[in-house]
Amino acid sequence: MTPDLLEAGTRRAESRRAALQADRLNTASGGRSASGSRVANPGEVDVTHGRILYLENVSVSFDGFKAINKLSLDIAPGELRCIIGPNGAGKTTMMDIITGKTRPDEGTAFFGSTIDLLRHKEAEIAQLGIGRKFQKPTVFEQLTVFENLELALKTNKGVASSLFFKLDSAQSDRIAHILTLIRLASSASRPAGSLSHGQKQWLEIGMLLTQDPKLLLLDEPVAGMTDDETERTAELFLSLKGQHSLVVVEHDMSFIRTISEIVTVLCDGSVLAQGTLDEVQADERVIEVYLGR
Ligand SMILES: Nc1ncnc2c1ncn2[C@@H]1O[C@H](COP(=O)(O)OP(=O)(O)OP(=O)(O)O)[C@@H](O)[C@H]1O
Ligand SMILES: [Mg+2]
Repeated sequence: MTPDLLEAGTRRAESRRAALQADRLNTASGGRSASGSRVANPGEVDVTHGRILYLENVSVSFDGFKAINKLSLDIAPGELRCIIGPNGAGKTTMMDIITGKTRPDEGTAFFGSTIDLLRHKEAEIAQLGIGRKFQKPTVFEQLTVFENLELALKTNKGVASSLFFKLDSAQSDRIAHILTLIRLASSASRPAGSLSHGQKQWLEIGMLLTQDPKLLLLDEPVAGMTDDETERTAELFLSLKGQHSLVVVEHDMSFIRTISEIVTVLCDGSVLAQGTLDEVQADERVIEVYLGR
């Protein structure tokens, strides 16, 4: 075991002990500790308070420049939230903070009501059930579509040597289901390198889905896609909604129109407006920042 894993294990044991103690106190007082950072088992995220993700007053500066400035955000379980905003608004940095890539200078970030994201490292956050899709697809080009999904599943299971790993029937069914979802069932035996840009993006989303993430963060998922691929991606996201919570950052407004319920507009590192796409597009402040840059 690596020192990192040892350290993570010790910390998990410590926070479990603290959580148990907090629970005992809570039972006595009849309430829940507001500052509790109980670590749920992977797959168990406490959403009883109606939130899968909760950011409050989060700020981060790079060399004195405030990229995120007192950002607060609330995402409900099963929600598909769209985030828009001009270049440099802080959208990607916000995802960096949620996934533990960047530590904020101040603020609060919770996954469900008990998991304090700021106490976890990037790899732990992925294990806890937050999947992230970067803009550029990173599939293994020489492997087939099926092998890519198989590998993602194994990596998730922590199988160090994949040589002796055989998929059980539930795992094979899961891959078959994902292949259908991402519309690559008929391309399962093709090398990933031969796929179109859009298909590679779907494959990468499929690889994330093998981990069954509770929350999926997608940064500009349709950039570079054809109109047809963009439409199919909208259908895919709509079909994922409900079972997963999705936070989608995009500049493509017709895509946003197809998938969105609530749209959050970020500007200068904080929320400028929030509402339906029609509402935010009619907002003078939003028009100003889009026209002014
Ligand atoms: N690691 C970093 N070091 C220094 N500055 C950074 C760093 N990461 C982001 N920034 C700056 O923070 C601001 C927000 O950047 P960010 O990438 O989050 O914007 P964005 O909303 O994702 O923009 P885009 O729509 O162009 O992708 C930018 O001014 C960027 O230059
Ligand atoms: Mg960005």
